[in-house]
Amino acid sequence: MDTQTVLVTGGAGYIGSHACVELLQSGYRVVVVDNLSNSKPESLSRVEQITGKSLSFYQDDIRDKKTLAEIFAKEPVTTVMHFAGLKAVGESCEQPLNYYHNNVYGTMVLAEVMNEANVKQLVFSSSATVYGESTAVQYSENFPLGPINPYGRSKAMIEDILRDLSTADNIIQTKSPWKIALLRYFNPIGAHESGLIGEDPNGIPNNLMPYVSQVAIGKLAQLSVFGDDYPTRDGTGVRDYIHVVDLVKGHTKAIAALESEKFKSGGCKAYNLGAGRGYSVFEIIETFERVTGRKVNYKIAPRRAGDLAECFANPELALKELDWKVEKNLDDMVTDAWNWQTKNPQGYA
Ligand code: NAD
Ligand code: WQD
Repeated sequence: MDTQTVLVTGGAGYIGSHACVELLQSGYRVVVVDNLSNSKPESLSRVEQITGKSLSFYQDDIRDKKTLAEIFAKEPVTTVMHFAGLKAVGESCEQPLNYYHNNVYGTMVLAEVMNEANVKQLVFSSSATVYGESTAVQYSENFPLGPINPYGRSKAMIEDILRDLSTADNIIQTKSPWKIALLRYFNPIGAHESGLIGEDPNGIPNNLMPYVSQVAIGKLAQLSVFGDDYPTRDGTGVRDYIHVVDLVKGHTKAIAALESEKFKSGGCKAYNLGAGRGYSVFEIIETFERVTGRKVNYKIAPRRAGDLAECFANPELALKELDWKVEKNLDDMVTDAWNWQTKNPQGYA
């Protein structure tokens, strides 16, 4: 079989760079399109260092249709993994238009160019954020959607657009239907075991794990634990943390599924990518302290607006249809996050 080319939007970012490693190591050619709005090109050099393989990089914005079309004309792309987007919940509440423009309009431009180039295989970075509040704590793909902030709504809108594209194929009876996997990530953390690539947040991190790492290394003074009075086993919020390397393996599994008999007539389907179990904030702190031997200084603070008490994935569908499940545990996630943090105390800078 010829080497397949995967175009990775947002490939210089946290998850995208890990996907590039996984793709190169699985024998794919990789073309990255990234405007570097939230990443550094050094991540791509590190990808090449880890894999001993090279990739093609275009520093471009996916909303620039002409340039994107030129890339598709030049590169023999068979599949797109679409990571490019803005992802900070708080920022999305302050700048909703920016989020809809980047995430929703950006995906529309990408889909138009893919349509025109007749490349109709897509793996999309969705998020567990698309689910509405539920009385159940374990989320299945058929739960109603009801995101509560502009970031989450941008992801839900994109899912709708992509589902509509696939539905339209049935009406127009095309010979080359869309094949789309909507991957709903739970809480990706950790880093590649080499410590060469990892999460490099701008400024003060919003998410728990990078915050804890930066407290442990002394960059930040103290973690605020947002609420210890939730109806959970120790009162703190429970989430489904997933190792980023497990997460990106779900993406190559998704490509295989899209190319299998199951998607022969096309389709657009959502899959949860999570471990299927949750850890509390206190459990994360305890594991971090045990694995790294460092103290994590914290205080109890008020609940953060918009946070759920507990949420984790039902990952059975991904196991059944993508033949995927997590392989790494919380100790691995913390070990690898800390390895990245200690080897790169200033990130890629
Ligand atoms: P990231 O910010 O590290 O990576 C996103 C990349 O996309 C960056 O390199 C950025 O420069 C690039 N980008 C943004 N807008 C672009 C545009 N218009 N054109 C070209 N490039 C653009 O984020 P990440 O954590 O790697 O997340 C990747 C994807 O996964 C995002 O779509 C995010 O919403 C989604 N996601 C992330 C998480 C998480 O917790 N990290 C959870 C669920 C879903
Ligand atoms: C985890 C737990 C906090 C920081 C977010 C986005 C979601 C998705 C993943 C993209 C919660 C607690 C956190 C801190 C704390 N991203 N916490 N102190 O909120 O589950 O999900 O990232 O799609 O859209 O909303 O992740 O890491 O922010 O929080 O106590 O300084 O840690 O209350 O219980 P969250 P998180």
